[in-house]
Amino acid sequence: MKKNGFLLSLFIALLFGLTIQSCGDDDEEFVATDSTFANFSTWSLDAVEQGTDNAVLGAAHGGSDSSIVRNIYFKDGVDPEDGEYAVGSVIVKHMTNAASNPADSLLVNAYFGMVKRGADFDATAGNWEYFILAENGAIAEDADGNSERGDSSYKACGSCHAAASSSDYIFSK
Ligand code: HEC
Repeated sequence: MKKNGFLLSLFIALLFGLTIQSCGDDDEEFVATDSTFANFSTWSLDAVEQGTDNAVLGAAHGGSDSSIVRNIYFKDGVDPEDGEYAVGSVIVKHMTNAASNPADSLLVNAYFGMVKRGADFDATAGNWEYFILAENGAIAEDADGNSERGDSSYKACGSCHAAASSSDYIFSK
């Protein structure tokens, strides 16, 4: 009796495992942690933007301040495949005017991230997750201790990135 019970639970466990695995194939998901963005400044620097002439950008991302450089790093130099980035693709944007304002009170250093989370995280906006990062790549926290991350509605990030929907919501590549 005891043995049968054991075999039955083993069978159920196996069945459950198989079910999870087969779901995983269709519904792949990558959930970023702090380490996802570590050492981003050593990644492939695939775009460098500067200046106030980007109509979509307006005043966001330092777009209204001509001294701010916008460096865009793609982890593993990832490229879209058939117009879409793979689940687990990671991109970091660093906005800084360090060159023109070395260490004075006008110094800007801001870090944004986008991660292709997949599954049905945000199906009508490409399943990207948006992040605000600390200088070392850790996911920032707001005053209440909540992680600074979310879908396209988070801090209205997606409102502009929708303009790049034909290139999977990514402007730079
Ligand atoms: C006002 C429009 C606008 C808003 C709002 C906006 N972005 Fe962007 N974002 C852009 C543009 C335009 C680029 C292209 C690069 C450039 O010119 O700086 C960009 C680039 C990026 C990139 C590099 C990948 C790419 O698409 O080229 C990341 C990462 C990023 N933004 C994250 C964010 C996050 C996180 C938020 C919300 C906190 C956000 N963005 C809100 C307009 C916007």
